[in-house]
Amino acid sequence: MANGLTYARKTASTEATKQLAETLAPYLHPGDVVVLSGDLGAGKTQFVQGVAAGLGISAQVTSPTFNILLEYHQGRIPLYHFDLYRLDEQDELEDTGYYDTVDADGVSFIEWGE
Ligand SMILES: Nc1ncnc2c1ncn2[C@@H]1O[C@H](COP(=O)(O)OP(=O)(O)OP(=O)(O)O)[C@@H](O)[C@H]1O
Ligand SMILES: [Mg+2]
Repeated sequence: MANGLTYARKTASTEATKQLAETLAPYLHPGDVVVLSGDLGAGKTQFVQGVAAGLGISAQVTSPTFNILLEYHQGRIPLYHFDLYRLDEQDELEDTGYYDTVDADGVSFIEWGE
């Protein structure tokens, strides 16, 4: 995390991952961008489901693998959930809505941001 500090937590269940993610929600501010790093099936989308719950979003959060971007506006602040796995070129970001939403009025969580 910030200032060179590293915080490590290992979760043993999907519920624990979501609960951990939920504790992050109160600290999120508009314009925050979180890149989620981890292999296929690591739990990135599960993590975003927990964040969404913590923001007060009751809608079901599903994987944006095929949509690239799914957005949720029912919570305390808008949540933008990206999955860039299917993008090949940096130029393709233009078409995803990335530049319209990142740094905007909400928080962005990005899978496969690397
Ligand atoms: N501790 C855990 N935390 C989160 N998910 C877990 C955990 N243990 C097992 N799982 C399982 O791992 C899978 C995680 O799926 P998820 O879609 O969140 O992964 P992902 O990192 O988003 O993958 P992808 O890169 O394909 O989008 C789920 O099937 C979930 O049930
Ligand atoms: Mg995912």
